[in-house]
Amino acid sequence: MARLLPILTFLFFNSLIVLSSQSKPPPASFKPNKLVLPAYKDKATNLFTTNIHKRTPSLQFPFVLNLNGKFLWVTCDRKYLSSTYQVPYCHSTQCAKASTTPSASCFSCSSHARPGCHNNTCGLMTQNPITHQNSMGELAQDVLSIQSTKGSNPGPFVSVPGFLFACASSSLLSKGLPRNVQGVAGLGHAPISLPTQLASYFGFAPKFALCLPSSISNNGAVFFGDGPYYMRPGNTDVSCSLTYTPLIISPRGKYHVSVTQIRINNKVVPVNTALLTLNRQGR
Ligand SMILES: *[C@@H]1O[C@H](CO)[C@@H](O)[C@H](O)[C@H]1NC(C)=O
Repeated sequence: MARLLPILTFLFFNSLIVLSSQSKPPPASFKPNKLVLPAYKDKATNLFTTNIHKRTPSLQFPFVLNLNGKFLWVTCDRKYLSSTYQVPYCHSTQCAKASTTPSASCFSCSSHARPGCHNNTCGLMTQNPITHQNSMGELAQDVLSIQSTKGSNPGPFVSVPGFLFACASSSLLSKGLPRNVQGVAGLGHAPISLPTQLASYFGFAPKFALCLPSSISNNGAVFFGDGPYYMRPGNTDVSCSLTYTPLIISPRGKYHVSVTQIRINNKVVPVNTALLTLNRQGR
């Protein structure tokens, strides 16, 4: 599998990215090489969120961005209406791909069948990244739509028909997360994370970049695909590549940032740098 080469970019500018959601349907042959999602900062939790279009008919839902999350999970037990929802059976190739352990657990559900509740499907452990509350979810597939971009201009929406995700219990959303979010979008170095599935479906570079807004009045962006990454016209002078730091992937697949010094208001904070510095293996 191609290695993810992510770049984490922090935006400390007063720049606004306004991502238009109006677009014409793309021509059938259209192959984007870069995709973009908006990024927002939640005032109450200081967590970053995004909006993702899923299902048929397509609906937009807010998700928390989780840098080390292994996949996307969404609550399905409330009202999941979609004509394209599918559940791969356990021991299928989709289950093998999604599971982190060789023997994928077969999921069963004692209540009546609905999205998130089927027999002989594949179980995925879903977790609230803040409270660490766990719940067994069902591996599922549905359409995911996402906006393409050529760099500075937003392009048409494109779709991934069988995007793999987990259907989680809505009880996982009860604490620690921003209001209204419907799940967590994992950006981790893992086989079915958002960046991995998008890169593999569209065949572009397995890279992504985050422009995290420093305040709730600014919007940020998550770019998938190769750089350079630019803002919308009017803000084209502000490039996300101005200040960035590469992410280091540890042997266990977790992202780290190599820190050599910490300054606050230009004053060096005395810290043991031996403890801060990570080697290439993320140790
Ligand atoms: C799963 O199988 C059990 C036992 O046969 C049954 O009681 C239950 O209703 C089934 N669940 C679904 C979602 O079909």
